[in-house]
Amino acid sequence: MSDFVNGFWGIFISVVAVGGVLWCVWLLYTQRRWLGAKPAAGQVEDTGHVWDGDLTELNNPVPTWWTWMYLLACLFALGYLFFMPGLGSYKGQLGYSSTEEVAQHQAKMANAVRPIYARFETMTVPQISQDAGAREIGQRLFLNNCAQCHGSDAKGGPSFPNLTDGDWLHGGSPEVIMKTIKEGRHGVMPPWKAAIDAKAAGDIAQYVRSLSGLTADPIRVFRGKREFGNFCVACHGVDGKGNQLMGAPNLTDDVWLYGSSEASIVKTILDGRDNRMPAHEHILNPEQIKVLTAWVWGLSNKPEAAGDVQAEGNTAVDTPAAGTPAAGTPAAGTPAAETTAVGTVAVGTAPLAK
Ligand code: HEC
Ligand code: HEC
Repeated sequence: MSDFVNGFWGIFISVVAVGGVLWCVWLLYTQRRWLGAKPAAGQVEDTGHVWDGDLTELNNPVPTWWTWMYLLACLFALGYLFFMPGLGSYKGQLGYSSTEEVAQHQAKMANAVRPIYARFETMTVPQISQDAGAREIGQRLFLNNCAQCHGSDAKGGPSFPNLTDGDWLHGGSPEVIMKTIKEGRHGVMPPWKAAIDAKAAGDIAQYVRSLSGLTADPIRVFRGKREFGNFCVACHGVDGKGNQLMGAPNLTDDVWLYGSSEASIVKTILDGRDNRMPAHEHILNPEQIKVLTAWVWGLSNKPEAAGDVQAEGNTAVDTPAAGTPAAGTPAAGTPAAETTAVGTVAVGTAPLAK
């Protein structure tokens, strides 16, 4: 196979390759004065170079064996170019192709692993997620294909969602996870610099923080709430709980892609965010995607619930028992520093059941 987009480069390469070999032969020919048998002793020319007072450099002819080696190497090169691909788009008489060799190898591997995956064909995603063998395969696939972004523990990082917390941008049902893996995702939060100034953005950020029960200035929250109603509800909803169809995150659950500080939220509001998950349907085959879907689904769905996908839902937050006094009982996982003043703002202090 040739990667050249037009014929010129193929011809150029051919001319350089064949020309190079012929040039080597021509060089030998022009230097033929130095070929042949060793002359009788005493007649040897020297180069005129003398070292250490008496060490002269002789100018003996090249040995015959060397000449033959040289010619054989040139012949080998021409023969190679005749039989193997090397001249532009010419495939070579033997028709060898490394691309084909790889494809054959891959087909062989695919056939070899097919029986392993065949077992999962009739199983549902929740069933696969409970299968020890499938979990091992799923984890390996994840480490090879996903961990570089989502982390080897799948807990994500700034801009990369945590896949273990039962909190979903796009949805956590097996179908939606599979669609995410196959087609990828593009999360776009538009920038609002043109419509919202920094001060107003700060107010909105205070309101957004209050939604998750984080410390916030009540007066700024009041102002921010109004602006939120003007600019944000279309995607994040009137209650701020987001919209999975648009990939707009729930802003009330204290789970953050970019961080909960006012500065980070203001940056999101003013500059927007553009976040991409690449499609994997051309990298992984359908059987692998199914096993991987089950592995990811299993991260936030405990085995007991696997039989009933809808009922158990997500496991992220240990909701404190109803009636527990508000102060000092923030949602599990709230960073300690943020918890001290929870309750100064009434909105959204209770963890929200999803
Ligand atoms: C190049 C980085 C990258 C790789 C590789 C990657 N992801 Fe993602 N993934 C992302 C980003 C970024 C998002 C968030 C997209 C958004 O903001 O809407 C995401 C989102 C997701 C989501 C949706 C989460 C939600 O809350 O709805 C799932 C599920 C997911 N990835 C699984 C995987 C799996 C499984 C793999 C391996 C096959 C993988 N990802 C590989 C970057 C990546
Ligand atoms: C067009 C729909 C849309 C509008 C309007 C919108 N957002 Fe967003 N927002 C998104 C999407 C989608 C994301 C997720 C971006 C990503 O995947 O990285 C997001 C992310 C965010 C985040 C980051 C959340 C986190 O977990 O770190 C914050 C905060 C936020 N938006 C606040 C706002 C505020 C405040 C407004 C109003 C000024 C607003 N958004 C308006 C769609 C929107």
